Amino acid sequence: MKRLLSGILVLTLILGCPACGRNAEQTELTSGERATSVSDTESESEETGAGENDGENMQNVLVAYFSATGTTKALAETAADLLHADTYEILPQDPYTDEDLAYYTGGRADKEQNDPSARPEISGSVETMGQYDTIVLGYPIWHGQAPKIICTFLESYDFTGKTILPFCTSHSSGIGSSASNLHALAPGANWLDGKRFAAGTSKAEIESWLDENDMTPNETTVSAVVGEFDFEKRTVLLNSGYEMPIMGLGTYSLSDEECYNSVTALLKSGGRLVDTAYMYGNEAAVGRAVRDSGVPREEIFVITKIYPGEQFANPEKAIQEALDKLNIGYIDMMLLHHPGENDVKAYLAMEKFVEDGKIHSLGLSNWYVEELEEFLPQVHIPPALVQNEIHPYYQENDVIPYIQNLGIVVQGWYPFGGRGHTSELLGDRVISDIAKAHGVTSAQVILRWNLQKSVVVIPGSSNPDHIRENLDLFGFALSDAEMRRINELDRHEKHDWY
Ligand SMILES: Cc1cc2nc3c(=O)[nH]c(=O)nc-3n(C[C@H](O)[C@H](O)[C@H](O)COP(=O)(O)O)c2cc1C
Repeated sequence: MKRLLSGILVLTLILGCPACGRNAEQTELTSGERATSVSDTESESEETGAGENDGENMQNVLVAYFSATGTTKALAETAADLLHADTYEILPQDPYTDEDLAYYTGGRADKEQNDPSARPEISGSVETMGQYDTIVLGYPIWHGQAPKIICTFLESYDFTGKTILPFCTSHSSGIGSSASNLHALAPGANWLDGKRFAAGTSKAEIESWLDENDMTPNETTVSAVVGEFDFEKRTVLLNSGYEMPIMGLGTYSLSDEECYNSVTALLKSGGRLVDTAYMYGNEAAVGRAVRDSGVPREEIFVITKIYPGEQFANPEKAIQEALDKLNIGYIDMMLLHHPGENDVKAYLAMEKFVEDGKIHSLGLSNWYVEELEEFLPQVHIPPALVQNEIHPYYQENDVIPYIQNLGIVVQGWYPFGGRGHTSELLGDRVISDIAKAHGVTSAQVILRWNLQKSVVVIPGSSNPDHIRENLDLFGFALSDAEMRRINELDRHEKHDWY
């Protein structure tokens, strides 16, 4: 993940970090390095399904896209990032299964593409379409054409006077007539020529395509505040100056191929945050999946941990071992797995690797108020993150604000209660009712509850559908009353010994 360059930073002191004699920072930066906080506009954006822009964008651009397997989504997000534009994912009411997508089998996608009147229903809508004057429209090529759901989308709004810039991804076909065949569905729009991109197209290539279409953002000045979640970019600015995604994948208990496949599925689905540890025995598999993904290294954020005992006693060796196993150049964040003998020594060793640029950010796992009070005065670089057990039955409502007030981001493990407790938590009446009301799953409700408390989520899963679902947290928002109902579920019931 990108570091916010010091050359363009104006650092403003907003929070004291008394333990470390350093400060959390408010960071001002040009829009080219944007990390805008939009939390006050977030609730509206959740209703519409499209992110609200902050009024400082160069133009009112919406990047709308349909993506069945994540290829188009990744490029749409890159374009939106470059343009500081809102995004809207066109989601089918009836999601496509792998079987539906198997082409030349006479399956659902094949049938729809052969049926001129097919208009697959869309789940949700862009209620604020009126505010956009330009739509970047992305889709995969299905039998040489845009999927029929794009027709549904175009027929759902009045695009008169708006500019539409189409792009597609495909296995090998060009954009062909797929875009021009859409013109009749939005006849009042100013259609620009479309372009086809291959999977994994670089950010630079997308940027030059946007430039060619006169879509370069102004260098407006926007600001980011350490610890505040940016629901539009789905990142948080750490006190180390790096941005971290606010949701990702935990790899505890996933080994080798399972871990490789899960990280691969995450990256394919647009997820960019992976949590591993020496103790999980799968750092090498994580590294391999990152290297094989084709996703630019700087877009991915990998957390790993070193463990008490032998590793804390010989921390330099342990850290080097993690770097070697991961083999991804640098480690985005390294944590101490839990308090233990030599923890300060181990942390001070990690600080040296930060100075050498081998680790970007540091953090702690399973540290609570007393442990932090004792630990923080003994180190120089403030931890950027504390990762603790957090779920509706163990909420840590006293610990979380304490940590956040230090300018440290909180991340939760065991979001679904951990082994042996998951079905009880996911089946909890309160959570199931809320899930039903929003048309989402209990897992999504729990993850969204965390995000609304500014807690980063790293649910573990080896199921690609669940991995995708666990990233899909931005099409709904929990009301204050729903947040309170979940808060009332707290039983102070720890499910692991840390
Ligand atoms: C039903 C169907 C038909 C497809 N037809 C074509 C095609 O005609 N030409 C092509 O190059 N790729 C074709 N593909 C491959 C997709 O266009 C390609 O994998 C695309 O990048 C997927 O984008 P997505 O991951 O955003 O869904 C087809 C895929 C499906 C599911």
